[in-house]
Amino acid sequence: MDVILIAAISQDGYIAHHSQEKITWSKDLYLFKKQTMGWPVIMGSNTFGCIQKELKGRDIVVAHRNDDPGEVLAKLNSKKCFIAGGGKTNARFSPYLTHLYITPHPLIFGDGVQLFFEKPCKMDLILESTVPIKGEKFLYQFQYRVNSDLRHNT
Ligand SMILES: NC(=O)c1ccc[n+]([C@@H]2O[C@H](COP(=O)([O-])OP(=O)(O)OC[C@H]3O[C@@H](n4cnc5c(N)ncnc54)[C@H](OP(=O)(O)O)[C@@H]3O)[C@@H](O)[C@H]2O)c1
Repeated sequence: MDVILIAAISQDGYIAHHSQEKITWSKDLYLFKKQTMGWPVIMGSNTFGCIQKELKGRDIVVAHRNDDPGEVLAKLNSKKCFIAGGGKTNARFSPYLTHLYITPHPLIFGDGVQLFFEKPCKMDLILESTVPIKGEKFLYQFQYRVNSDLRHNT
């Protein structure tokens, strides 16, 4: 199964100013909608609490602290799913990631919720594609594949 982390980030690696932030600064929401439509989307309870609109057409799976990420994924019975934050959830699911779709925004937060809250497992990434963000001259989503031959667990 493809397990794709999808996130908008600041240039210093943050996905939010704080854990309850409703994200209004990202320019790629339309792309998030297009790419996740029809697929399961896994997110943490803080992120679920921040969603402003119902994510129609997607099976939303809210991950809690006692859930085992491997079991959550095994139950999906899907060819593809998305990990949509926040930082705690991204870190917990990091050993299972096959792809990362990252849109770096021209912002420095200085502090906040990091893409990975705790140390993720180390990964070597292969850039497969860049997707221009509509209406933004120099903003791109970077689509990486995790090089599974070189996955580190330390
Ligand atoms: N820029 C982006 O693309 C993007 C994408 C997604 C999210 N976000 C932002 O990310 C922020 C939320 O991120 P987050 O990292 O705070 O939360 P999160 O990953 O969305 O949810 C928190 C997760 O951590 C667990 N948890 C909470 N306290 C814990 C503890 N002490 N020990 C172990 N597990 C614990 C929770 O379990 P329980 O349910 O059991 O408490 C839940 O599974 C929001 O502001 C959201 O808007 C940004």
